Amino acid sequence: MGSTEHKVLIGVIGGSGLYHLDNLTPVETVNPETPWGYPSSPLTIAQLPSGGKIAFLARHGVGHQHSPSHVPVRANIAAFKSLGVRVILAFSAVGSLREDIHPGDFVVPSQIIDRTKGIRPSTYFDEGVVGHAMFGNPFDDALIKDLVPLVKEALAPHEVGNGAQVHTEKCVVCMEGPAFSTRAESNMYRMWGGDIINMSVLPEAKLAREAEMSYALIATSTDYDAWRVSEHPVTVEEVVKTLHQNANASRHVAAHVLEALYPDIESGKVGSSFTGTMQFACITKK
Ligand code: ADE
Repeated sequence: MGSTEHKVLIGVIGGSGLYHLDNLTPVETVNPETPWGYPSSPLTIAQLPSGGKIAFLARHGVGHQHSPSHVPVRANIAAFKSLGVRVILAFSAVGSLREDIHPGDFVVPSQIIDRTKGIRPSTYFDEGVVGHAMFGNPFDDALIKDLVPLVKEALAPHEVGNGAQVHTEKCVVCMEGPAFSTRAESNMYRMWGGDIINMSVLPEAKLAREAEMSYALIATSTDYDAWRVSEHPVTVEEVVKTLHQNANASRHVAAHVLEALYPDIESGKVGSSFTGTMQFACITKK
């Protein structure tokens, strides 16, 4: 693995529009074959200014060839695990289900509603080995507590944040896709308490939990989903423009957050919430 004075402790997953972190210094590319196959993209190992190392993976592939339903998520999480990653920061484009979450805003959610259709392999406990993970709080709340002020700090300069707000304590609905929701579904999700919607937070968050890793989602809003009837319907061109703006802001956020979090992860202060939690999870007789 090249020079390893510093370990690769953080894994970054880029979503739609975020296919590289070219504001960081790449030192190596690896493509580990896992028992679940190859990850969505090779992993770029990058060195932070203070020396720490992170691994970046493009969730949908660098050419965006994996649809949300067919991302090799088990391989992605296993590839990070094989490098020694403890914390996963996952970026994702989302639709907004609330008036006050504007396109361009950032959201660090705390809850998930699962609307995937059971076609995605979503556990490592399969085929004769049964295990159950606790998932009441699907993200690492301790990590979120440290992360949110850093995201706000990174977006504070107007030329970076463009006036974007950072929302917390929100619920993300994860749907199957690839078609977006109908207006009736979108309204139903609002009634259920959903605040944002994407197609990717699951099974990522579940598999990270089974792998005893810390996981947080940094969501960027691209559109208002189908519920919002407006005089000026949003065009695909506008959504793509927002996607690119969000990706630029996300690169800046990533660089700031990674540098600030790394020492706390290295010391074990952050990123160890789930260490050992799966010790008694497997209930199949040996
Ligand atoms: N990703 C970005 N916008 C979305 C939406 N409206 N629904 C589901 N996933 C999304």
